[in-house]
Amino acid sequence: MTEAHLPAIRLRGLRREFGPVTAVDGVDLDIAEGEFFSMLGPSGSGKTTVLRLIAGFETPTAGAVELFGKDVSGDAPYDRPVNTVFQDYALFPHMSVLENVAYGLRVRGVGRAERTRRATEALDRMRLADYGARRPSQLSGGQRQRVALARAIVVEPRALLLDEPLGALDRGLREQMQVELKQLQRDLGITFVFVTHDQDEALTLSDRIAVFDAGRIQQVGPAAEVYERPATPFVATFVGTSNLFDDAQSRALLGHGGIHAIRPEKLQIHRGETGDGLPGTVAEVIYAGASVRCVVDTDAGMRLTVLEQSSSGHASVARGDRVRIAWAHDDVRDLVEPETAERRAADDATTDPETPTPATASA
Ligand SMILES: Nc1ncnc2c1ncn2[C@@H]1O[C@H](COP(=O)(O)OP(=O)(O)OP(=O)(O)O)[C@@H](O)[C@H]1O
Ligand SMILES: [Mg+2]
Repeated sequence: MTEAHLPAIRLRGLRREFGPVTAVDGVDLDIAEGEFFSMLGPSGSGKTTVLRLIAGFETPTAGAVELFGKDVSGDAPYDRPVNTVFQDYALFPHMSVLENVAYGLRVRGVGRAERTRRATEALDRMRLADYGARRPSQLSGGQRQRVALARAIVVEPRALLLDEPLGALDRGLREQMQVELKQLQRDLGITFVFVTHDQDEALTLSDRIAVFDAGRIQQVGPAAEVYERPATPFVATFVGTSNLFDDAQSRALLGHGGIHAIRPEKLQIHRGETGDGLPGTVAEVIYAGASVRCVVDTDAGMRLTVLEQSSSGHASVARGDRVRIAWAHDDVRDLVEPETAERRAADDATTDPETPTPATASA
């Protein structure tokens, strides 16, 4: 295997306990060079801990971290070819913006002239060329975030670790920064590992996503695959919304057992009693801009959510209407229990890491 095919980041059997809490449990993962990789999961699912294990701010209880083919278990954070951007930016308030950006170079013993040249270049790249003399307190939230990014890239890491970097920004700025982050990653051509609990953000930005729950990975795959083919009930409901059928409901509705999911936008709703489909009564109609969400109580006893696209802003049905719900067989997803999904995810992660690079995945 050539070095080019070695993953940028390889996690093997990674585990981290804090007293009685197991924050990270049996994580196996290969992240390719040049990949925009997201770790998505609810609060407390272990995302930050995994990032800190990669960066070297935490020591694993068990397992190993390899960076670019080298086991870095004994290496201090500053000896690892990665850098971290934190949610709270962690800028030094008493230093100018330029000094903040140059700090990492100073620590590494780079001379003053070159420090200034490289820090200026990094600020330029983040469109902050005119802000070098200011203090962080004299910048907006978005500008501070760009300073934090400039400071992280100035030391030319081979991978950038980003822990909810847009968490403190309002929605408009957040969407603008998402575009900037994606462009920055393409320009630099380095690996980004991006932590978020925002599924839209993960789907928008990522080549691949790992979905975490309770310290374990439930699914790893390209963004579209995680959305289109969720592996477990947790993924089906955490990444977008899904109607879930348990074993008994699957038997009654689909004619075979197991756990299944179908997206609300894949259900069709028809008014009236006659014709194909599952009969029910509309319990609620909720307007959501370009779409309308209809909650239907089926006669079979389960509640289904249907998403209707609506150019007029009106649903084709009203509360109390008798309706039938239909779907295409192909749109029903087979789900598995988390244990099965974990085994598969570990298998996927450990097979030949011919993982998509941005060139192929984001075309
Ligand atoms: N230093 C620590 N000491 C004790 N427990 C910790 C420590 N760091 C993390 N934990 C625990 O480990 C678990 C995972 O925490 P982690 O910060 O990795 O979650 P997260 O997915 O980043 O959550 P969030 O989205 O809220 O940032 C939590 O139960 C947390 O309380
Ligand atoms: Mg966190």
